[in-house]
Amino acid sequence: MERYRMQSEEHIPCNVFLSSTGPVIFKPVENQSSFKQIIIIPEYFDYREIWAILSLVGTSHEEVELRVDFNTSLTLASDKRSMTIDDQSHLKKEAENSTNPKINRYWIQRYDLFSRYDEGIQIDEEGWYSVTHEEIAIKHAERCRGKVVIDCFAGVGGNTIQFAKVSSSVIAIDIDPMKVKMAMNNANVYGVANHVDFVVGDFFSLAPSLKVIGDVSFLAPPWGGPNYCKVESFKMDMLQPRDGYSLFKIVQSITPNIIMYLPKNVDLAQLEELASLSSPPLTLEIEESCIGGKMIAITAYFSRNAA
Ligand SMILES: C[S@@+](CC[C@H](N)C(=O)[O-])C[C@H]1O[C@@H](n2cnc3c(N)ncnc32)[C@H](O)[C@@H]1O
Repeated sequence: MERYRMQSEEHIPCNVFLSSTGPVIFKPVENQSSFKQIIIIPEYFDYREIWAILSLVGTSHEEVELRVDFNTSLTLASDKRSMTIDDQSHLKKEAENSTNPKINRYWIQRYDLFSRYDEGIQIDEEGWYSVTHEEIAIKHAERCRGKVVIDCFAGVGGNTIQFAKVSSSVIAIDIDPMKVKMAMNNANVYGVANHVDFVVGDFFSLAPSLKVIGDVSFLAPPWGGPNYCKVESFKMDMLQPRDGYSLFKIVQSITPNIIMYLPKNVDLAQLEELASLSSPPLTLEIEESCIGGKMIAITAYFSRNAA
């Protein structure tokens, strides 16, 4: 039996007994009336999994009442393993994300989206299904080393963060103020917020003022929600909030170096058309963006000279 010291929601010091088989008992040292108990499965007692376990405990063990208040602070510590969580609203959010059927499939991949997820990354519902996987964002960023990058649809910052690590500077634009707030927070988690100018605004209105600023424009516009893959061939006019042709025309007025992150079923002939109809024509390179050997998207690199 291992012994942990715990702060309960009332900040009453508790002795916590974690047995290999039975329940963990959170027993207040001074106040017996605030008795609490909870099951934690010791072999899974990993700080990354704790919120998932807490949410499961509440539903799968009828005889045990889950009495951890998610809105207050909980500290578990031992010589071998330690965990400090100051803001328990984060735990509550994690429990919701892990059980929300819309988010769960993305939440399971959370460390592929942000390897530093546990350090306070914030993602809203749209962000969950639209953030670029970190491994892919790193590849995008490699192509922009030393450049000034405009991340035209920055979302919660999956790409912005990786650009900030290697580029000369980044302008990160999103129309949704909450997304920008989250992207700022997330860039802070990665220690790169100082390399980014965050802008809340409509890219289409801002485009004329970006003309002389950027070397590369990065476009990861909304694909119209998770249903994009239900069509056989994703057409440029399915991009949102404006069709891909007018988007491309506008972005070309900023710089000929354009990176577009697009659905894996995008019509490649239309991308070639965009490159060849440009004046002068642009070089186009198509990259399959893969995770675990599986193609999940296409990245199109347009440039006046091969990048
Ligand atoms: C696919 S997400 C970008 C994800 C981002 N690359 C990441 O890794 O987190 C598209 C974003 O475009 C934003 N957006 C939609 N219309 C916009 C507009 N007119 N101007 C700027 N941002 C817009 C949405 O709020 C959304 O966050």
